[in-house]
Amino acid sequence: MRDVQYILITGASSGMGEEIALSLSKEYDIILCGRDLERLNNVKNRCAPGNHIIWQYDLSNVDDLESSLTDLLKREEISVSHFVHCAGYMKMIPVKMLKKENFTDAFNVNIVSAALIVKILVNKRANHVALKSVVFISSNISNFGAKAFSVYSSSKAGLDGLMRSLAIELAPDIRVNSVLPGGVRTRMTESMYQDEELINRMASTYPLGLGNVTDICQAVRFLLGENARWITGQQLTVDGGRTINITG
Ligand SMILES: NC(=O)c1ccc[n+]([C@@H]2O[C@H](COP(=O)([O-])OP(=O)(O)OC[C@H]3O[C@@H](n4cnc5c(N)ncnc54)[C@H](OP(=O)(O)O)[C@@H]3O)[C@@H](O)[C@H]2O)c1
Repeated sequence: MRDVQYILITGASSGMGEEIALSLSKEYDIILCGRDLERLNNVKNRCAPGNHIIWQYDLSNVDDLESSLTDLLKREEISVSHFVHCAGYMKMIPVKMLKKENFTDAFNVNIVSAALIVKILVNKRANHVALKSVVFISSNISNFGAKAFSVYSSSKAGLDGLMRSLAIELAPDIRVNSVLPGGVRTRMTESMYQDEELINRMASTYPLGLGNVTDICQAVRFLLGENARWITGQQLTVDGGRTINITG
């Protein structure tokens, strides 16, 4: 019998994904995906009691992804009703240093893995028509630009393009949306937060001041759940007003 439904969260071993897993574990069972088993176990142990499962997988390996996820769902006899793609690859690379491998690395983790996971989750045999809602963690840079961000920003813009087309293709049964965070303190950005002057300068460009992983988690919870039942194909920017601020 396969009637146990799960939320799959990639990037659950750290930062925003960790916060989303801890928060959603109060209501749902979670599949926690990441590479670092120690960190995944640590998050699992801090989740609310439940039948949470670890999927230790390197999402840059897009060749084996479909079989790995299909095997997991079959072995555990579970289905996935909600999917949050939070895993992300971010590297600042000036254009004169670009190598084509940089695009492969970023696009495989940030976009291709998300698309292949959705492909499995909409497969009737693999997931039994269980999927209801998907949220991709994009970035507020998806719609803007910054020096040395050509690889990362194009990968997030591509992720949002994927989100919009999936929203149309999978309607009316499945909703697909993106959350576009501004800068928040996580392992990915920790080095920036060591520079007090930089952070003070950054904070002055955020009309609502700096945010944190809980602010991002609240937006994900909203878009995933039934209160957002008439919202699909949308980018929800959560950045304290940073990207609409044109103050000189
Ligand atoms: N922090 C920010 O300011 C900010 C702003 C805008 C958008 N974002 C986006 O927010 C998302 C979460 O990032 P974060 O800030 O929470 O950073 P983080 O703490 O570094 O978390 C990144 C997560 O992605 C996972 N991951 C990375 N590469 C992976 C791979 N090849 N296979 C499987 N998992 C992989 C990591 O898992 P393992 O380490 O276990 O592999 C980790 O759980 C990312 O998509 C990022 O682009 C962040």
